[in-house]
Amino acid sequence: MSFRIQPTAPARPNRCQLFGPGSNTKLFAKMAASAADVINLDLEDSVAPTDKDQARANVIEAINTVDWGRKTLSVRINGLDTPWWYRDVVDILEQAGDRLDQIMIPKVGCAEDVYAVDALVTAIERAKGRDRPISFEVIIESAAGIAHVEAIAAASPRLQAMSLGAADFAASMGMQTTGIGGTQENYYMLRDGVQHWSDPWHWAQTAIVAACRTHGVLPVDGPFGDFSDDAGYIAQAKRSATLGMVGKWAIHPKQIALANEVFTPSDAAVAEAREILAAMEEAKASGAGATVYKGRLVDIASIKQAEVVVAQSELIAQAG
Ligand code: COA
Ligand code: MG
Repeated sequence: MSFRIQPTAPARPNRCQLFGPGSNTKLFAKMAASAADVINLDLEDSVAPTDKDQARANVIEAINTVDWGRKTLSVRINGLDTPWWYRDVVDILEQAGDRLDQIMIPKVGCAEDVYAVDALVTAIERAKGRDRPISFEVIIESAAGIAHVEAIAAASPRLQAMSLGAADFAASMGMQTTGIGGTQENYYMLRDGVQHWSDPWHWAQTAIVAACRTHGVLPVDGPFGDFSDDAGYIAQAKRSATLGMVGKWAIHPKQIALANEVFTPSDAAVAEAREILAAMEEAKASGAGATVYKGRLVDIASIKQAEVVVAQSELIAQAG
């Protein structure tokens, strides 16, 4: 370990973030009643330009009147290249009550984007005497975002989570696909004439996880557009969990249970992690730093791996 200790990420479950357009008021109560850990009321790309003002008013009313239970409640504001974002921040912070937890900033391209929103939010909080500081989450969904990902992860103490937004990311990178995440038909290797599909999102996900873990931020996988393809969603989510991400977006309610299943460590995984910890306790007691568990090496690094699984499961149990 470096002399600089890796900070821990916020201790709250973030297995599934459910999105709904701020213009679709019929969805709000259903979102609140869902099993998602995080709710994202959207003012950005699921809202038409002519609906922006109405959607903002809807969202403010929903924050103030709907019972959101213990969920993390977040609003996705419009991007900093639009005429709407400042009014999103000002109206929401001035008119919505303390129930709002978080603001999601889309299409972040540099640390200064986060700094700008932080300055505005801080001024409004002081002026209005808001007691609970608003936290931030960002979406990495452009070439600039991924190029500056580490500086963005370090940009504000408000930052709690960072998502990969596959569709805008693909467009910004000039990738030849119209799919939102998942397997891409033309991204394959050939061996003996047989196609083997590879994962074009892998490196961006890994860069996000590394930046997040360096700065104590939760790394999250973004949307999977084809909500008829459960198996595809699960495959994508499992890869993300394996890489260190803590959750995934749902753009349709049927994706919530899939995300919760993948990002909740299974009973078998937790039992095995506890057995590894017990085996290492025994090894330590006899003065050894390594031992054998089910025919394979476990050592002091295995303790940390096992602790990740146990800690995640305890966090989810406490929140539930
Ligand atoms: N949150 C909560 N409930 C939702 C929902 C959501 N995001 N999307 C759909 N539902 C509800 C519907 O109201 C319907 O409820 P009912 O059974 O009581 O009538 C049920 O789930 C089934 O919905 P379905 O008919 O399959 O979908 P739809 O055609 O109504 O909507 C979408 C499909 C994709 C338009 C809709 O799911 C949606 O708006 N998703 C969010 C999009 C978004 O926020 N994008 C931004 C982030 S990428
Ligand atoms: Mg986007």
